[in-house]
Amino acid sequence: MPIVGIIVVAAGSGARLGAGQPKAFADVDGVPMLERALRGVFGSVEPAQVVVVAPASHLDVARSICDRVAGVASGAVSVVAGGVTRQDSVALGLQALDDSVEIVLVHDAARALTPSALFDRVVGAVAASGHGIIPSLPVSDTIKRVAERSVVETVDRSSLVHVQTPQGFPRESLVAAYAEANQEFTDDAALYSNAGDVVDIVDGEPLAFKITTPWDLARAENVLAELRPVASIRTGVGIDVHAYDPGEPLWLGGLYWPDEVGLAGHSDGDAMCHAICDALLSAAGLGDIGGRFGTDDPRFAGAHGEVFLAETLALVTGSGWTVGNVSVQLIAKHPRLGARRTELEHHLSSLVDAPVSVSATTSDGLGFTGRAEGVAVIATALVQRA
Ligand code: CTP
Ligand code: MG
Repeated sequence: MPIVGIIVVAAGSGARLGAGQPKAFADVDGVPMLERALRGVFGSVEPAQVVVVAPASHLDVARSICDRVAGVASGAVSVVAGGVTRQDSVALGLQALDDSVEIVLVHDAARALTPSALFDRVVGAVAASGHGIIPSLPVSDTIKRVAERSVVETVDRSSLVHVQTPQGFPRESLVAAYAEANQEFTDDAALYSNAGDVVDIVDGEPLAFKITTPWDLARAENVLAELRPVASIRTGVGIDVHAYDPGEPLWLGGLYWPDEVGLAGHSDGDAMCHAICDALLSAAGLGDIGGRFGTDDPRFAGAHGEVFLAETLALVTGSGWTVGNVSVQLIAKHPRLGARRTELEHHLSSLVDAPVSVSATTSDGLGFTGRAEGVAVIATALVQRA
């Protein structure tokens, strides 16, 4: 049975946020605030009984969020209804603790981005000291004492801190302090100190800030956007197909192929260059050749594949990527690449400013390539952050 209990208070209405529903159920970048807070709780190392205190109207939705986050550990979570004030809600949470719990943490669901390490830090400090423990951050603004609209003095901020949750306490003393509390306190530590118990601080976490107003919610969403891992290497794929047209010269891979049957197309029909363009654009997340270079754009009417490749490379590098390599395969009965494969690789490599490998295959007589109606080309590209 766990010796740690974590009470997550989520029963407030969120009047200042004004989300049209209780605050803990409002989305932070698509995920309910309570769910984000519980991810921090369940990322902590010490197994714990988790008590979620929710509005009476939202017990079912709170339960399903808990099950989603806790997974196989959902048996470790209890959901209870909260009270009128935060203090009432914590008191109701305390009543739901298992007998085995010796250390209690109280945490605001509204501190939705609190890192798991902070829970571990607080539990460790309570276990080591037997004191109440609160996370704190230094005050960086200058603080003034004022009367009416006038400054009385500048307060020495070196002895001031901001405090956060989770706040941790030995269970027995916290329950006793709650039993004797006969006024509202601004946090659990104040209530605990008032009962004569010692409270120490540990380092807090900037990410444990409380979401109170719409500005705070926007801040949380922007912080999440900053933290989102951005792939530094990406791959892309492209395919192009063109029919043979005996009336056209053959352009393939940016080279002219005399005495070969040409390819039909709005441009010069260079399926190899087009497939490479699509692979590069897809790797860089820039869409595809059809969307980028419209068939009604006069610059591209009859244009050679090199023109598309140069434009594509400019788009890819312009959005912060360099090309790692490109691999391209021709599926066709003809032309036979054989003798010109090395020349082709050199030419394409110079066009995309990265190694290009070219291979070819037939389709064993099957399909349109097997019936010699046209060619198919498939390309993959790798790009990396410049
Ligand atoms: N809380 C609670 N029960 C209450 C009041 C608050 O469980 N009766 C919880 C909130 O859900 C929140 C935490 O206490 O996670 C901190 O409170 P606060 O940020 O003030 O949230 P609200 O009271 O919901 O917001 P507001 O004061 O703007 O209405
Ligand atoms: Mg409140």
